[in-house]
Amino acid sequence: MTVALVPAAGRGERLGSAGPKAMVFLHGLPLVAHAVRGLLAAGCVRHVVVAAPSSHQAEMIAALSAFDRVSVVPGGADRTASVRLALHAALEHVPDARIVLVHDAARAFTPPALVRSVTEAVAAGAPAVIPVLPVTDTVKRVDGAGVVLDTPDRTHLRAVQTPQGFDVDVLRRAYEAASGTVATDDAGLVERIGVPVHTVPGDVAAMKITTPFDLAVAEAVFAP
Ligand code: C5P
Repeated sequence: MTVALVPAAGRGERLGSAGPKAMVFLHGLPLVAHAVRGLLAAGCVRHVVVAAPSSHQAEMIAALSAFDRVSVVPGGADRTASVRLALHAALEHVPDARIVLVHDAARAFTPPALVRSVTEAVAAGAPAVIPVLPVTDTVKRVDGAGVVLDTPDRTHLRAVQTPQGFDVDVLRRAYEAASGTVATDDAGLVERIGVPVHTVPGDVAAMKITTPFDLAVAEAVFAP
């Protein structure tokens, strides 16, 4: 049994919107509704819990009212706190869940096939699974003044997407060990407890909508 968590309680400042990024509309629906629709369309997700900003609970509940098997909880002070709260709520809804997916609302057009591929890899025995793409740009590490320190070998770099999939006990342990740390990525917390994180091929359609440019690209590419 698989549950999915969508931490969507951020303010979305980089997108320049007045409200939360997850509530930015594209083709008639907010990003969070597109993301939830993709998760449920995969056919393997039993329940989705969305962590919403406490200031926008009612708005997000209304935006997701068309979907069964979705609940909305108030998010926490940071992403890690929001995931922790959503995980707790998800396991109350589906106590026998064995697999947990954590998915960015901003990856609104993630293909259902990618959701299935991550879930299947966890079901096949991997404790943690992330979708990745090769990095096409050369990447530099820089110091505080912007001066280049070095150039990591690109062949070993991957850009990470979501949904990230976990055995429920592994994610729980990672979050217990993470008290006080704020992670940008759930797999990062799993790495810290020494559990191997596996990869599956990502999909360009799972792009993260972060900037107004990304929003314009998504609007053009994912036109209904
Ligand atoms: O701000 P950033 O893009 O790093 O946020 C990553 C994700 O975490 C976003 O989907 C955001 O909505 C979510 N988040 C959250 N609770 C917070 C802050 C961010 O769920 N308190």
